[in-house]
Amino acid sequence: GGESMYKIGIVTMSDKGARGEREDTSGAAIKELVAGLGRVEQYRVVPDDPEVIKNTLIEFADQHALDLILTTGGTGLGPRDNTPEATLAVIHRQVPGLAEAIRAESLKKTPKAMLSRAISGIRGKTLIINLPGSVKGVRECLEVVLPVLPHGLEILT
Ligand code: MTE
Repeated sequence: GGESMYKIGIVTMSDKGARGEREDTSGAAIKELVAGLGRVEQYRVVPDDPEVIKNTLIEFADQHALDLILTTGGTGLGPRDNTPEATLAVIHRQVPGLAEAIRAESLKKTPKAMLSRAISGIRGKTLIINLPGSVKGVRECLEVVLPVLPHGLEILT
């Protein structure tokens, strides 16, 4: 099918967001940015809990058969930053070039980019990409990979 038909999921990792104490502006930013790529079919704010993150990614990939899952938050050095490990635990193959490109381009904007441990990989036919938690980080990182995603997703499916 056409590239505008991709099924997309967004997972926001945020203890505060999951408790309803914080509005998820980064998830909303992702929604806007991927509008040309496909439909956001699943969207969830989850706590920074490894089991919840893993189960959500597995559900989105296997049950909802999404083509692309974008995560935001939980990639830093904090004790509750569990997104990279949970993602690594559920993917079958890494796609290092996506994470490398994101980090390389992000370092041109802020040296703090080296504090993100974000990874990218494939579970079945689903591509999963970790993004940092801030709206600024989401925008800067997604714009790096968005141009190659139609081709990448086409090969994957
Ligand atoms: N990458 C880009 N492009 N722009 C940013 O503002 N913020 C950094 C980094 N990556 C940032 C970025 C910061 S300050 C941190 S702490 C790490 O991402 C991890 O963010 P997270 O814990 O919210 O995932």
